[in-house]
Amino acid sequence: MRFPQSFIEEVKYRNKIEDVIASYVNLRRAGSNYQGLCPFHSEKTPSFTVFPNTETFHCFGCGAGGDVISFTMRAENLEYPDAIEFLAKRAGLAMPEDEGGEKTISRSRYYEMNREAARFFNRCLSLPEAKEARDYLAKRGLSNAAVKRFGLGFAPNSFDALRNHMHKLGYHDEELKTAFLCGKSERTGNYFDYFRGRIIFPIIDHFSNVVGFGGRALGDAKPKYLNSSDTPVFKKSKQLFALNFARNACADSLILCEGYMDVIAVNMAGFPNAVATLGTALTTDQARIMAKYTKKVILSYDSDEAGVAAAKRAIPILTDVGLEVKMLRIEGAKDPDEFIKKYGATRFKTLLDDSQSKLDYLCDSVLHKYNILIPEEKLKAAAELCEMLSGIYSDVEREIYIIRVSEKLSINPQNMKNDVERVMRKKRKEESAEFKRKIVSDTLGYGDRVNRDFVKNARAARAEEAILGILLLRPELMRDIKQGRVALSSSDFLTDFGKRVFDAFMEFEGHFDIGLLAETFTPDEISRIVKMQIDRSKLTKNDLSVLEDHIRTLKSESADKTSSDTLEDIQNLINRKKK
Ligand code: CTP
Ligand code: MN
Repeated sequence: MRFPQSFIEEVKYRNKIEDVIASYVNLRRAGSNYQGLCPFHSEKTPSFTVFPNTETFHCFGCGAGGDVISFTMRAENLEYPDAIEFLAKRAGLAMPEDEGGEKTISRSRYYEMNREAARFFNRCLSLPEAKEARDYLAKRGLSNAAVKRFGLGFAPNSFDALRNHMHKLGYHDEELKTAFLCGKSERTGNYFDYFRGRIIFPIIDHFSNVVGFGGRALGDAKPKYLNSSDTPVFKKSKQLFALNFARNACADSLILCEGYMDVIAVNMAGFPNAVATLGTALTTDQARIMAKYTKKVILSYDSDEAGVAAAKRAIPILTDVGLEVKMLRIEGAKDPDEFIKKYGATRFKTLLDDSQSKLDYLCDSVLHKYNILIPEEKLKAAAELCEMLSGIYSDVEREIYIIRVSEKLSINPQNMKNDVERVMRKKRKEESAEFKRKIVSDTLGYGDRVNRDFVKNARAARAEEAILGILLLRPELMRDIKQGRVALSSSDFLTDFGKRVFDAFMEFEGHFDIGLLAETFTPDEISRIVKMQIDRSKLTKNDLSVLEDHIRTLKSESADKTSSDTLEDIQNLINRKKK
């Protein structure tokens, strides 16, 4: 759905960027701007800046940038139309009516469809045919209270129970299919219920919308779990099961589990701050969502090999977004669910209180892996531990761990310390080499994911960025170009990205607003576009003459594109950097 420009302007007018961001970031005034710690990467000194004059933000650390709409998309993990809706709600604005005609199905229809399905599944749990399901739940120790709290249900073992019900409510097969409530046979073209003979776990987002479902087989049928795939209202990589409850109870910490059953068991044991990913590995998006609500995550994955491996992969993802990570050590049970059944809620509480720091956990897991009574294995363990300890930033903390670990290995701590420091020196060297490489490649636009043609036409690309930046700063110049007072056209642009941005500028009637770009450009692209503007915000000379100067450069580049000497340019640049 394309929103009318006037509506976007209204939404932005009623949601001042500094006010909106202030509810996520502690902002401090810095001249005419505001600064704070970036919510999109972990940092200790503020490089995140809000520019009220241009109604934009930019992080000089990670490069994220945009306007209040793209900020909301990132911060709330929303797609463009949802971010608009979110901000409209915040300001108490009513959403504009669709202008009839052929419309894509609106998101609220999916939410309603899912809610109706969830109600249906829940009712089916009381039917005679659901006896096996009820017995199964009882066997797994799931109380009626749990069923009610999580809205659990049962999908009858039939190909059209849900479909028939939904048809009566006016939903048709094609939209049910898009919502992953039914499938369609490629061979016969027949539609069929997607979930059959399964316990249903509705997945509810933090606005209390039902967005998807998980279905567990009764007993040992395969696959054990069936989950909705991504739909217009459900992105598995951006959802956490039970966040709707946990978000109100996680001031101290979130408990991250592997499965639905664990979350429910932990909840029913009195800890509503539990969430789980949805049958996939933890993503950075999910970690960011958690970081929005809490500072500490207690990882409570299964105690089997797969769980341990998954936990190790999850640790850096969580740490990178600034979360403190603690590890739950489940012994005598395979997962939190089983532990609570076996030992009760009180012992689980002790487990939570005793959760280890991630370093203890990682050290222990190395020590467990090797038989340190065998010299070769002890050497391997020591090498692995040195590598790990070399990554500890604080000298004091590192020292503590060196002593602790060397005791366990019966090695002289001073020797261990020497080895750790050797690894650190080596890493530092590698890092500074990597840093140099990065400077060269950034300068040249190598590895430029946003503007892939940058390196091919570095000079032209720089001119393009300058032109686009100035146009953003002085949108009235866009009109001068459109009306031919300044000679510049799309065909003068050499990079695809530059051309796309320019075309987008030229598409606007009336007042240009960067908020409208978020519909067609990705958040990374928006960040880059905002950066073009910020890089030029100090411009004091006559804008028009600077603009014309860059246009000349760009035109001369596109004119002798054939006799291009850019490769030579690059070689020279590299040589200069090497010196
Ligand atoms: N999962 C999945 N598909 C499978 C198996 C697992 O999507 N075939 C996901 C589910 O989200 C599940 C989680 O991975 O909750 C963890 O898997 P597992 O530990 O096997 O399930 P449990 O939650 O322990 O479920 P149960 O106790 O019912 O066996
Ligand atoms: Mn499990």
